[in-house]
Amino acid sequence: MRLINRKINKYFLEKRFFTFKKNFSFLKKIINDTYAEINLSTLRKNFEAIKKYAGRNSDKGKKICSIVKANAYGHGMNEIAKALLDYGTDYLGTANYSESIELHDYFKKNTKKQFSLLCLGILTENGKFFEEIIKRKIEVTVSDIKIAGYLNDYAKGFNKKINIQIKADTGMNRIGFPADSLKEAVRKLKTFGNLNIKGIFSHFAESENAKSGFSLKQIALFKQLIKESEDSGFKFELKHICNTGGILNFNDPEFNMVRPGISLYGYYPEIGRPKKEIGISPVMTLKSKVSQLKTVDKNVSISYGRKYITKRKTRIASIPVGYGDGYPRLLTGKSKILINKKFYKVSGTICMDWILSDVGKESSVSVNDEVILFGRDLPADEPARLCGMIPYEILCGVSSRVQRVYV
Ligand SMILES: Cc1ncc(COP(=O)(O)O)c(C=O)c1O
Repeated sequence: MRLINRKINKYFLEKRFFTFKKNFSFLKKIINDTYAEINLSTLRKNFEAIKKYAGRNSDKGKKICSIVKANAYGHGMNEIAKALLDYGTDYLGTANYSESIELHDYFKKNTKKQFSLLCLGILTENGKFFEEIIKRKIEVTVSDIKIAGYLNDYAKGFNKKINIQIKADTGMNRIGFPADSLKEAVRKLKTFGNLNIKGIFSHFAESENAKSGFSLKQIALFKQLIKESEDSGFKFELKHICNTGGILNFNDPEFNMVRPGISLYGYYPEIGRPKKEIGISPVMTLKSKVSQLKTVDKNVSISYGRKYITKRKTRIASIPVGYGDGYPRLLTGKSKILINKKFYKVSGTICMDWILSDVGKESSVSVNDEVILFGRDLPADEPARLCGMIPYEILCGVSSRVQRVYV
């Protein structure tokens, strides 16, 4: 009888333990008080708003190549890419081949959906990544005929046909075939039996400037290059030039795909533009908590370099976030944070792991109160502006030790 009782007790104990573990499994995910909350329903809304806005003046709408390079602008490449695939993105764009390979392998394991990855970066002569790309059939940007020839030979060796997109340099002067060599390059590329020309694209140099005459010239040149390369027997399936700035300011109906990056994450390329304009909002909120509160006297120095001196008896909140998490040290003496929806100044030098804030003697701030460094109620435009950065840098700068928590 005792044995049976013991077994029953063990059974109930284990059951309670597993129920507890299941109910509180989210606790496992939040280890640090500082974390980046990534709101996937905002991502979906942004994606849908961009798709609608980009396609508003063309019958068939526009295909979307969602840019997820640089760890999806700091939001976590794999999770963001998978979400965007679920929301209906046509393509995913990476910057280099290790990102493409990582994403391809993640998708193979984690989704049954079809996906198309375009790597915006180029291959070099040393043959690095050729085999990995060919085996995975990752779509490649081509901007050099010699390297395209090597890739064709490699693909032939594996008996595979690789999709390529041709990069035309229309004025960015970064990568791509120079305009005067493009027609000949396309003619040659057509003869490579193991490469399939899927599209052609270019990139704006200043599309965030709505008045840019240079962007109009880039569009005209791009159209001319396409016209010269196409004929009755050959048409590019995909033609694209628009990043976020292009979608907003230079969205020509002749091109059938767009490549939004920053707008997916809730920002415009130029600081301070009202986000309501196309209905996007920040996806990431960098959060932390008040770890310690201490009362200090008047004339007390705070943090490294003793740059902040208290003007009265006050309370200092210590918050465990710093430039080691990607909160720029350049914001020292400039930035504000939100505690309980109220703004407070960051006081004294920003450290690697801590910031400090003089919250006053009378405020209601307590230990464990939530702190927002930037995000929905405090867009990253503001810290970016204060330290001469752009929101892209603030988002991409959130370091790897900050957990991304998807809600
Ligand atoms: C080739 C290319 N296309 C699209 C984008 C996306 O740009 P944005 O984030 O401004 O939308 C980038 C980003 O730098 C890019 O390099």
